[in-house]
Amino acid sequence: MSKQEVVETTEAQIAVHWKEEDYYYPSSKFIGQANLTDPDIFDRFSLDNFPDYFTEYADLLTWYKSWDEVLDSSDAPCYKWFKGGKLNASYNCIDRHLKNNKNKTAIHFVPELEQERVDHITYQELYVRVNEFASLLRKTAGLKRGDRVTIHMPMSAELPITMLACARLGVIHSVVFGGFSASACADRIVDSNSRVLITMDAYYRAGKLLNHKVHADEAVRISAEQGQVVDKVLVWQRYPGKYSSDTPMKGGRDIFVNEELKNHYGARIAPEQMLSEDPLFLMYTSGTTGKPKGCQHGTGGYLAYVTAMSKYIQDIHPEDVYWCMADIGWITGHSFIVYGPLALCASSVIYEGVPTYPDAGRSWRIAQELDVNIFHTAPTAIRALRKLGPEEPAKYNYHFKHMTTVGEPIEPAVWKWYESAVGKGEAIIVDTWWQTETGGFLCSTVPGIKPMKPGSAGPGVPGIHPFILDADGIEIKDVGIAGNICIQNPWPGMFQTIWGDRERFVKTYFADICRDPKSKDWRDWPYLAGDAATMAEDGYFRILGRIDDVINVSGHRLGTKEIESAALVVEEVAEAAVVPVSDEIKGKVPDLYIALKTGVVPTEALARKISDAICDQIGKIAKPRKVWLVPDMPKTRSGKIMRRVLGAISNRGDVGNVMTLANPEIVEEIRIMVQDK
Ligand code: WT7
Repeated sequence: MSKQEVVETTEAQIAVHWKEEDYYYPSSKFIGQANLTDPDIFDRFSLDNFPDYFTEYADLLTWYKSWDEVLDSSDAPCYKWFKGGKLNASYNCIDRHLKNNKNKTAIHFVPELEQERVDHITYQELYVRVNEFASLLRKTAGLKRGDRVTIHMPMSAELPITMLACARLGVIHSVVFGGFSASACADRIVDSNSRVLITMDAYYRAGKLLNHKVHADEAVRISAEQGQVVDKVLVWQRYPGKYSSDTPMKGGRDIFVNEELKNHYGARIAPEQMLSEDPLFLMYTSGTTGKPKGCQHGTGGYLAYVTAMSKYIQDIHPEDVYWCMADIGWITGHSFIVYGPLALCASSVIYEGVPTYPDAGRSWRIAQELDVNIFHTAPTAIRALRKLGPEEPAKYNYHFKHMTTVGEPIEPAVWKWYESAVGKGEAIIVDTWWQTETGGFLCSTVPGIKPMKPGSAGPGVPGIHPFILDADGIEIKDVGIAGNICIQNPWPGMFQTIWGDRERFVKTYFADICRDPKSKDWRDWPYLAGDAATMAEDGYFRILGRIDDVINVSGHRLGTKEIESAALVVEEVAEAAVVPVSDEIKGKVPDLYIALKTGVVPTEALARKISDAICDQIGKIAKPRKVWLVPDMPKTRSGKIMRRVLGAISNRGDVGNVMTLANPEIVEEIRIMVQDK
């Protein structure tokens, strides 16, 4: 496949293959209360019944008008799910629960400082606050159905309030992870043509109150340079009524939300009746080129899918207290902190800060205090908690019935610690494999039906039919052979397109394996996920890592090209190459190799400057493990940088035969530099 030929080092290539593990079985107590225990589900959701089986998911929602057609594939691979149906996501996550559950907690907001009180927001309170903010968005900010708005906010109750207020109006939200830099935020403002930016003045991270408003000013400045004017910046206050940033407010542009809201007290905004296929939000993610892509998620399909996944895979019941310890600025937070759990009338926990602040027992104290019974996090957090406080969970009186792991492969040893120490041997675990693009899970065990297997995600979830292709596009039916994992059928949660770039959408995810580019039949358009995987005898898939130029750092996706182009902004840099390196806690981290322009002297200060440039342009999460200032890059005779060789050096692997390179002698020089450190 063309995609693979151009790639010389990928996560998949440096992945460790674990041995097959024994099954763990769910307890009868779990099965007795599970939402899904009917084994016939897999027959009902066989491809023979596609696409109608997905109406079982759509039926979990409240529709103003039912759909005319389950799946419209006339513009394949851009699909319309539940076409013609009308609904509103905010109505489904709030209004419909008021009749029976208005006094139930919708959101528990836990501030990072332990001396501050937890905020318990009922569904009624959420209804009031979303309506008032929706009124502000409409009347003060002039936003209307179809407009895009960029949201750069930390973990706070105000973030889902903001998202749901947008959804109420049919305004398409684009949430940018709070830890992203102003420059990354600006790129997303420009690409989505947002004229309104919503931010917060400050938030706590590792005990420090960080100035966040400052990034808004910078993002607006950079956007303007690129031709996108932001005329309103809405600033929530971490402490309502008090400004916690020393960055000045700009007259005529910046508005304190908490003050302006007074003009909207008591306002009620009827939810817009959105078409199922209308976009609900954009979520930008990294790809193989420098420019992040805006994954466009629709309203009806997405909401139906995440609600079903929350109900059947997360096993959420309305009486559960559910804590997904991800950031709402990523797809996991959208689907599994906000939309899925709230659509099911659960109580969803939002924690402001670092899971190990002020100590490794913090997460378990939160679980104990709020009586959390469903817990959801990423292997990187599990590894950190295990390293810092392996004995901590036992000290606290909480009981999980269900736990999720998501975002990267989890080592069987870490899985087992999660099961025994965090889960106290009582909780089932689901290892959920999916992506920003897919809206919800692709592979996972159904917890009440299938046993768990450490290190393996599981089979396709009901309705998803995965298979594996080799590099020539031929299906691999043998067990244990790695190839590219694909999905045979479309599903309601999948993104509709890349915002403003249908061509890139088709090219990146479908073109390489499409059976007939002219076809309007979904069977000809399988989805290429971009991950390598193997399948075991029992049909469980194990994900090995990315096959493309994407690195998964602590469960966050970073494009190697994105980091390289950030490095190239530094004047002294001639060439840059990024490779993934295995890391005990973070899974993978980027190593950055730099060749300087002729005559430039390599110094520690210069290496720091390059590293800082990356943090400035992308964010701290992209900070390289190490910047290696090398005398030259290993290159093919045609001048291509051999990332495979650099990757082997960084990971202390075999560099293979390098004699055909244009400059083979450089390999040993770099190896000594890196490995003898
Ligand atoms: C990439 C997607 C899934 C939402 C959060 C990340 C990797 C995801 C697993 C898993 C092994 C996984 C894949 C995928 N990944 N889940 N359970 N086991 N790898 O979303 O940022 O779009 O990243 O994360 O490589 O392609 P994302």
